[in-house]
Amino acid sequence: MKKPILSLTLAATLAIGAVSVQAAVKQEPAAKAAQHFHDPFEKKILKAISAENIYENIDYLSKVPRVAGTESEAKAVQFIKEEFESYGYKADVQPFTFYGYTPPSSISLSVDGYEGEWKPQAFTYSVSGNVSGELVLAGLGKKDELSSLDLSGKIALIERGEISFAEKVLNAAEKGAAGVIIYNNAEGALSGTLGEHNDKFVPSAALSKAEGEALLSQIGKTVSLSIVGAETGEKTSHNVIAVKKTTGKKSAANDIIVLGAHHDSVAGAPGANDDASGTAMTLELARVLKNVPADTEIRFVTFGAEEVGLLGSEHYVSTLSDDEISRTVANFNLDMVGSRDAGDLVMLTLDGKPNLVTDLAQKSSEKLNGEPTPYGQGGRSDHVPFAEARIPAALFIHSPSEPWYHTPEDSIDKISKEKLQDTAEIVGTAIYDRARMDQIGPKPKKAPKFKAPDELKTEENIK
Ligand code: BES
Ligand code: ZN
Repeated sequence: MKKPILSLTLAATLAIGAVSVQAAVKQEPAAKAAQHFHDPFEKKILKAISAENIYENIDYLSKVPRVAGTESEAKAVQFIKEEFESYGYKADVQPFTFYGYTPPSSISLSVDGYEGEWKPQAFTYSVSGNVSGELVLAGLGKKDELSSLDLSGKIALIERGEISFAEKVLNAAEKGAAGVIIYNNAEGALSGTLGEHNDKFVPSAALSKAEGEALLSQIGKTVSLSIVGAETGEKTSHNVIAVKKTTGKKSAANDIIVLGAHHDSVAGAPGANDDASGTAMTLELARVLKNVPADTEIRFVTFGAEEVGLLGSEHYVSTLSDDEISRTVANFNLDMVGSRDAGDLVMLTLDGKPNLVTDLAQKSSEKLNGEPTPYGQGGRSDHVPFAEARIPAALFIHSPSEPWYHTPEDSIDKISKEKLQDTAEIVGTAIYDRARMDQIGPKPKKAPKFKAPDELKTEENIK
């Protein structure tokens, strides 16, 4: 794949921007910046946006992880719906199903006559089960190594390397193994995935190199492995949608703007920044824009199951009629918009080119901060299905990302109210700029049809 090279000028803009944007914010507080905005509603919007409100909602949402399809996602969905309703919107919950894996609630390993404790990790997609049998050394678990072994009803101890975890488990299962333990070939714990569900899997656990080597001295003993609560099956996640209709009669421009963020998080991470921050900012902008006159419909959407593969936004876009798709002029995607430990605000578009969203936000950021927010290329979030439907779309994110991304450390104490305020002002005034009652907003240029190659969905490149 051809990767855009970071142009020197943009690299410099990004680096310099980091300093000057912050300096501009300090020297030019919102009240002063507001003098560049002449429409009284712009001033009202700027005055009304409260980082404190956003922060409080992030705090509420990020008490626990919000994994798609779980009870905690459903609780977050209920909270978001009630918040929208408290601002005067009618909020719709849009359910959709997907096939997914629930990690085990507990996993344990014991060796007969051995006092010490083991700390096994489950492989993602390992099946549940309570198995015990003789521990047999099974090398790297390759087919030729196993051909002469009797694994029937036994537990295979296999070293990491050369072939995939799934192949090791399937090879051992084919030889009748009741369970599989794979240990690391490098220092440290091992946590891996079997890639996808397979009915032929047997309970499988991972051990660190040190623990695996300790287990080598237990070959021939009886080992018990118990994995409880893991299951793969159909799950339900939800999008939450609140719509601000156009003001006045049907003579309005008939266009639609979608402002969105994903409310789900990965397992084990409270997801304060990823993406309670975008969710809470979407709520705050819905609150602030509620009674502002607009000739453009604004839809506020929080998506479920983004972390499972952009499923909520894919589902949402798939429910739009051709007419709605052609009327949707912009998608603003807020994902990771408040980390104190990340870099400056950037906008990422799927094809790396500017579009109506980046144009509007560059105009508003220039007015607010004296610097246009830079744009680059990136996928990996809910703007992708919009861009693939040829809707101008951009991800708002701080770059480089914070080290807490997808960790238990992605918590409220790392959230910066300044970053929240700055981003919400840029996005709020950019949306208003297009939605205001002028009915002559620039018609968006439809991007040529562009299907993201897989690399683009997982890479972030600042052009
Ligand atoms: N917020 C991230 C995306 C992200 C992180 C973009 C850092 C740019 C820099 C998002 O929630 C995420 O984790 N996405 C997945 C991809 C998705 C298709 C499952 C990812 O990037 O691994
Ligand atoms: Zn995210």
